[in-house]
Amino acid sequence: MTAETIKDQAPKEAWGRHKKLERNVALLGVAAFLTVTVGGIVEIAPLFWIDNTIEKVDGMRPYTPLEQAGRDIFVREGCYVCHSQMIRPFRDEVERYGHYSLAAESMYDRPFQWGSKRTGPDLARVGGRYSDEWHVQHLKNPQSVVPESVMPQYAFLAKKDLDAGDPAATLTALYRAGTPYTKEQVENAAADLAVQADPNADASGLLKRYPKAQARDFDGDPSRVTEMDALVAYLQMLGTLVDVNSAAAQEELAKEKGR
Ligand code: HEC
Repeated sequence: MTAETIKDQAPKEAWGRHKKLERNVALLGVAAFLTVTVGGIVEIAPLFWIDNTIEKVDGMRPYTPLEQAGRDIFVREGCYVCHSQMIRPFRDEVERYGHYSLAAESMYDRPFQWGSKRTGPDLARVGGRYSDEWHVQHLKNPQSVVPESVMPQYAFLAKKDLDAGDPAATLTALYRAGTPYTKEQVENAAADLAVQADPNADASGLLKRYPKAQARDFDGDPSRVTEMDALVAYLQMLGTLVDVNSAAAQEELAKEKGR
C-alpha cells in the first residue's frame, strides 16, 4: 500500500464510524446523553465545594444599613450599566485602579457588581479616592468636574429623603440569603442607619458592629438623610474594608495561587 492510499483511508474509516452513530437513534441518544452528563458534571460539581473556593479575608464584613441602602440605589439607578466592580489581575488595570479584586471582597454582594462593560471607570476601589464634596458635585453634575463626561446627572438624589423601608427587614432578608448578619446588627439596623449619617451621634456602637464604618454627614446637608448620603457612604466604603497589602491578605493570596 502506498502512503497515498493510507492517507485516503483514514478519513473514510472515521466517516464510517460517524455514519453508524448518526443513523442509529439509540446509539446517538446514548452518546449525546454521555456528552451532556460529562459537561454537566464539570459545570455543577465545583458548586458543591463553592464554600471552599471563597477564601476568608480579614476585614471583610457585611454592609452597614446605610451602605446597603446606598448599594440598593446604585443598583436601582443602573450604575452598573457603565461601571464594573472587579479589577482584573492585569497590569494596566492594577496600575490604574489598584490591587486586583479578591473573591472575598464581593462575597456579600447580592446581586454581584462584576461585569466587563465599562463606559466609566471600575469602582471597586473608589472609596477614599475623592472627597465627599467631589462625589456630591460629580453625581449632581458630572460635567462640572469632568467636562467630557457622558455620565448622566443625578442631582435628584440630594433632594430625595432616603426611604430605606425597614432596615431590619432588609438585613433579615439578606441574612436568609446567606449574609451573616448577627442578631445585634439586625436589632440595631434602624438606629445604625441614622447614626452613620449623623455627624453629632455617638458612632461607637456602629463601629463595634461594623469595623471601619465611616460615620458623618456625606451630602453636605446634616439636617436630613438623603439618597445622596446613602450612595456616597456606599461609594466611600468600596475597596476600603480589606487591607489587600496586609500580611494576612498576602498569605491568603499565596494559598489561593498554590492550589
Ligand atoms: C452612561 C454611563 C454612566 C452611568 C449610567 C453612570 N456613570 Fe459614573 N461615570 C461614567 C463615566 C464615563 C465616568 C468618567 C468620567 C467622569 O468622571 O464623569 C464616570 C465616573 C464616575 C465616578 C468617578 C470614578 C473615578 O475613579 O474617577 C464615579 C464615582 C461614578 N462615575 C459613579 C457613578 C454612580 C454612583 C452612578 C449611578 C448613580 C453612575 N456613575 C452612573 C459613566 C456613567
